[in-house]
Amino acid sequence: MDVKVTLMKLTFYGQNCFHIALQDKQLLVDPFISDNPLSKDKVAIDSIEADYILLTHAHEDHVLDAEAIATRTGATIVSNYEIAMYYQQRGIEVHPMNHGGKWQFDFGVLKMVQAVHTSSFADGTYGGQPAGFVLSADGHTIYIAGDTSLTYDMKLIPMHYQIDVAILPIGDNFTMGIDDAVVASNFIECDQIIGCHYDTFGFIEIDHDKARNAFDQAGKTLHLLAICESFTVA
Ligand code: NI
Ligand code: MN
Repeated sequence: MDVKVTLMKLTFYGQNCFHIALQDKQLLVDPFISDNPLSKDKVAIDSIEADYILLTHAHEDHVLDAEAIATRTGATIVSNYEIAMYYQQRGIEVHPMNHGGKWQFDFGVLKMVQAVHTSSFADGTYGGQPAGFVLSADGHTIYIAGDTSLTYDMKLIPMHYQIDVAILPIGDNFTMGIDDAVVASNFIECDQIIGCHYDTFGFIEIDHDKARNAFDQAGKTLHLLAICESFTVA
C-alpha cells in the first residue's frame, strides 16, 4: 500500500492536550486549557482549530474545554461510548468507539487501546473506561497513552504497529512515573517519547533532568515540550 508521507505536527498545550496538524485535518487531544495554570495565559484557546477532538477519559483535566471548542469549531468528539453519548446529548457531533476497535476516518486510522486508570465526569457522571489511541495518518504512527499505569497490554501494540513517537504520562501519582514510562517505551518498542501529565499540579511535579537522564540511560529520547512548542514527526 502506498502511503503519501507528509509531516505530522504535534503542538503541546499542557497536561495531555496536543494539537495534531495532519495533511488535511486537525485533531485536538484532551483539551484542558482554560483552568490549566501553566497554559491558560499562553494558549489562544479561541483560535484553536479542530476537525476532531479525541478524549481519552472523562476527567476534568482532559475534557474541560472540549464542549466549548467542539461547539465553536463543529469538531466531532471521538471517545468511548459513554463519553460520546454525554456530548451527543449536548448537541455535539460524536464518533463512539471502544477498546480494541479501530476505524478508518477521513484523516487516517484510529485504534482505541487499553489504559488502566479511572474515568468519571466532574459531576460524577459515569465516563466509561479510560483509553489510549494509536493514530496512523500521513505515513506515521503515534501512540497517545492517555492517563494510565504501566500495563502489560502495551506489549500488544507493536505486534501491529511500528510506533514512531509515543506520548506517555510521566508525572507519577495519578499515572505512570518516569521509571515505569521507560519500561512502557520498551513494551511499545519506541525510542522517541514525548512526556505529558507532569508539572501541572503539585502532585505531579517532576525533575526534568532526572526524567531525561532516565530515558537517555535506556538509549531513548524524552522530549519535554514547552507550552505551545511543536514537535514534527517526519
Ligand atoms: Ni485522569
Ligand atoms: Mn489526568
